[in-house]
Amino acid sequence: MNKKIEQVPDFEGLVRVAAQHIVNVSQETIANHGQMAFALAGGSTPKKLYSLLAGDPFRSQIPWGSIHFFWGDERHVPPDHQDSNYRMAREALLAHVPVPDDHVHRIPSEMQNAEEAADSYERELREYFQLAPGQNPRFDLILLGLGPDGHTASLFPGTPAVHDTTRLVAAPWVKKFSTFRITLTPAILNKADHVMFLVSGQDKAEALRSVLEGPYQPEVFPAQVIHPAQGQLIWLVDKEAAGCLRSPLTV
Ligand code: 6PG
Repeated sequence: MNKKIEQVPDFEGLVRVAAQHIVNVSQETIANHGQMAFALAGGSTPKKLYSLLAGDPFRSQIPWGSIHFFWGDERHVPPDHQDSNYRMAREALLAHVPVPDDHVHRIPSEMQNAEEAADSYERELREYFQLAPGQNPRFDLILLGLGPDGHTASLFPGTPAVHDTTRLVAAPWVKKFSTFRITLTPAILNKADHVMFLVSGQDKAEALRSVLEGPYQPEVFPAQVIHPAQGQLIWLVDKEAAGCLRSPLTV
């Protein structure tokens, strides 16, 4: 695994560096493979990044028609719900760029049973990646965020999905929110060619320090479980989020 931690002064700089990284990875991936599987993150941090990608100078540098979009996780709500990660990405990005409808693979989170939604998404992944039994898909790029409790995607502290190495997609019950979530598991997250964390704000500083500099205890800080064996892991963090880190960072 090739791991890099890059600090940028502020949020504006963070999303600009992230956008340029996405341009670079998408151009390289599509030049080499003809198409790209890109799993988006949810939450609020990436929304500005998605809007940036939808406008120039970044929009014109990305081969949109060759990218297939997926989600790293989803809330157990319909796709038009205000909490939907799919809705956020569609409104901020996908509605504004020329991505064919059949290139958008959203998690069917409207299904009453979250487990069935996870199974359905796992089938869609197996079909898209043409997976043989036991084979795991290799995303070209996965974007992740970090929660103040050290969660990432919907891998929350104390949930079994953090250590799930068999399923590709799980539907954990998240006690703190009293709801199910649907999430890619470490088995698939750690197969990616590129994983990029986007972390901004002082409220993430303690979690970031625990994840990057604390003892390895992923059941407490699930983001620690992300280490793509053959991939590149980039932590893009702004100055506020890096505020508790002991080791000096490249700026
Ligand atoms: C979600 C995300 C989640 C998110 C972190 C950070 O569904 O909410 O997948 O893992 O990335 O909670 O969220 P913010 O960017 O809103 O701080």
